[in-house]
Amino acid sequence: MKIGGKHTRSIWTAGEDAFGILDQTRLPHEVVTLTLRDPEAAANAIVTMQTRGAPLIGAVGAYGLALAMREDPSDENLNKVHDMLAETRPTAINLRWALERMKNALLNQKREERAALAWAEAAAIADEDVAMSQAIGRNGLAIIRDIAAKKPGRTVNILTHCNAGWLATVDYGTALAPIYLAHDAGIPLHVWVDETRPRNQGASLTAFELGSHGVAHTILADNAGGHYMQAGQVDMVIVGTDRVTANGDVANKIGTYLKALAARDNGVPFYVALPSSTIDWAIADGRDIPIEERSPDEILKMTGRDARGQVVTVEIAAPGSPAANPGFDVTPARLVTGFITERGTCAATPEGLRSLFST
Ligand code: MRU
Repeated sequence: MKIGGKHTRSIWTAGEDAFGILDQTRLPHEVVTLTLRDPEAAANAIVTMQTRGAPLIGAVGAYGLALAMREDPSDENLNKVHDMLAETRPTAINLRWALERMKNALLNQKREERAALAWAEAAAIADEDVAMSQAIGRNGLAIIRDIAAKKPGRTVNILTHCNAGWLATVDYGTALAPIYLAHDAGIPLHVWVDETRPRNQGASLTAFELGSHGVAHTILADNAGGHYMQAGQVDMVIVGTDRVTANGDVANKIGTYLKALAARDNGVPFYVALPSSTIDWAIADGRDIPIEERSPDEILKMTGRDARGQVVTVEIAAPGSPAANPGFDVTPARLVTGFITERGTCAATPEGLRSLFST
């Protein structure tokens, strides 16, 4: 995707002993890049959400493990750094998927070859993520085309929650990839962007991406989506996901479930876009997905730019009140109209998933 007219991935290599990311905690006010030179820096970037989004933290974890192999390619260090990176965030399965893939690619290899092999494997994970996002975009475009055909000459209105665009992946995105392709294909569309409290990934990241690409959009308070659905102003919902279980239950940013309920009540199709690295075949249903509990400060404070242009954090709650902050919720498969994957679209059922991913 483009920042200031220049094609930019959300992760890139800097030689063979460092890699770069955008500091997403500084967006949309500043575009700041970070160079990460060791696995601890990679882990810290994930924990502090300088980098975030399920597929992207998988790629960051992979490069973090590759850096560890430059320092010490022993089995002991491989296992230690694998576990350290896996602990950084619990809900998105892509992180564990990428780290397992790295470990499997390295364990039976000679130690002196591990650093180069690890770097190549991390690059393959990043490149494959881009290819999967592009394929998700093409498959989702077909759905948007069908909706557009039913309302010729009129704008297709799509609602999304959180950020599942190129900033959450290596490029293009999952939920936003079909939107970018539809926009580029000349389909008139407009995106309702849930602000996505408490960290505002919608207002600060999705809106930034869509604006940079020239896609018409409007930021909504999280509670407003149901109102626009009742008014017939939402043609479809597309969200990303951090983990899909074998039965089709979907973990995604907190608040997704409420949008799925409102969509079902109003007959609005609710799609979930995902690469296969997001499917957790080992968990039967969403009850077993670990839900990240995040700092109460994310609820009690807000960060933004003040009138003088300074980025400041302010307290917004009654002093002394406690806050609870689950980062994700689980949308039951029965509320999902379909999955948009790199291999095509399918029903949100065990059979649907197996029809695309049996091999
Ligand atoms: O806490 P975050 O910002 O990492 O949460 C991200 C989301 O919930 C995304 O919607 C999800 O990872 C899908 S990203 C393609």
